[in-house]
Amino acid sequence: DCVTSRRIVKLPGLIDIHVHVREPGATHKEDWASCTAAALAGGVTLICAMPNTQPPVTDLDTLTLSKELASRGARCDYAIFMGASSDNYNTAPELAPRSAALKMYLNETFTTLKLDDTTVWLKVTPGVLASAHPVCVHAEARTMAAALMTASLASRPIHVCHVARKEEILLIRAAKAKGMQVTCEVCPHHLFLTCDNLEQLGQKGEVRPCLVTSEDQQALWDNLDIIDCFATDHGNLDFLINSANAPHTLEEKTGAKAPPGFPGLETMLPLLLTAVTQGRLSMEDLINKLHHNPRRIFQLPRQPRTHIEIDLDAQWTIPEALPFSKAQWTPFAGMKVTGRVQRVVLRGEVAYVDGQVLLSPGFGEDIREAQPLTTASSSVTGGPPVFPSPLCTHPSTITLPPHS
Ligand code: NCD
Ligand code: ZN
Ligand code: ZN
Ligand code: ZN
Repeated sequence: DCVTSRRIVKLPGLIDIHVHVREPGATHKEDWASCTAAALAGGVTLICAMPNTQPPVTDLDTLTLSKELASRGARCDYAIFMGASSDNYNTAPELAPRSAALKMYLNETFTTLKLDDTTVWLKVTPGVLASAHPVCVHAEARTMAAALMTASLASRPIHVCHVARKEEILLIRAAKAKGMQVTCEVCPHHLFLTCDNLEQLGQKGEVRPCLVTSEDQQALWDNLDIIDCFATDHGNLDFLINSANAPHTLEEKTGAKAPPGFPGLETMLPLLLTAVTQGRLSMEDLINKLHHNPRRIFQLPRQPRTHIEIDLDAQWTIPEALPFSKAQWTPFAGMKVTGRVQRVVLRGEVAYVDGQVLLSPGFGEDIREAQPLTTASSSVTGGPPVFPSPLCTHPSTITLPPHS
């Protein structure tokens, strides 16, 4: 294991559009400070936080509360999603420009925001007209087909979260071929784990969408060109039902099943870099799916003087727990990976180096407040938004001299 030279690559700061921070409501699982430390350690400089907190983010009061907590706790930049409920489709449009985008939960998962009535979906979907952001959906299998139908009827762009199954990616392929404004994301756990891992993961294997078959997984790799973004769906949830030191809810204690969710911020990039090393993914594709496409789809601003440095040749085994998330476990434990985050620079400040997170809670900025959208609510005429072409850092490889 004598490494003769190390290739250091510079990439733009990564963007994770699907993160569960758990603050407010469950800060023993994760909070803004721990979650954004994990993000920076994973090379992620901007996260979009999901609204299924306690209370969930559905109106001005809860959005304000969430933004306050984030502004105090976040070490990296962020935006916060608004959740659609059956009665906020009149008020959500006003707040849409100040949120990451609007999220609809259409299947059973860890949330109180599930929408069952398709007529509500149809009312909610145009609710994002005030902003150019797509409506984001947790919509699996046939539910996804129905969600695409609703978006099509409402003439709105739709973004499908955590696509996992063959039937889902093939349907999105068909919808794109028809010219539908649909984009999607795929999570590392669906690319690198399958239901065969459930035996070893036990209670920890609960995640929505569930871990899929190797045929589903192969379909994701075969349709990489249809995948717009990678996103972690990072979300620590207690599975140690008998752990004495964590204040679990009664429901979690007595429930037959552990709540679903995987931490993933600190492992996403090493897993994907390993795929690059193996020739299963190009570096260009990685940057598109973790930087350019998220920026374009969600109209995220450029983070000035921001980049990450990667050691492409560092080989390591993912440990039982990563240092910064409160999760203290990972479904990827024991996997051998090639590639490591060495340094992260966020808006000119060294954010992470040599295993240390250097930015304090409060450094992170709400990118929806820092750069209020100048596009008025007049984009009602629809059609895809015109995006400025991104000016960003493309990777440059620096080969360091041999070390002893
Ligand atoms: C998510 C969570 O942790 O809140 N759980 C999950 O299994 N993905 C909810 C979600 O994104 O569906
Ligand atoms: Zn979901
Ligand atoms: Zn999620
Ligand atoms: Zn670029």
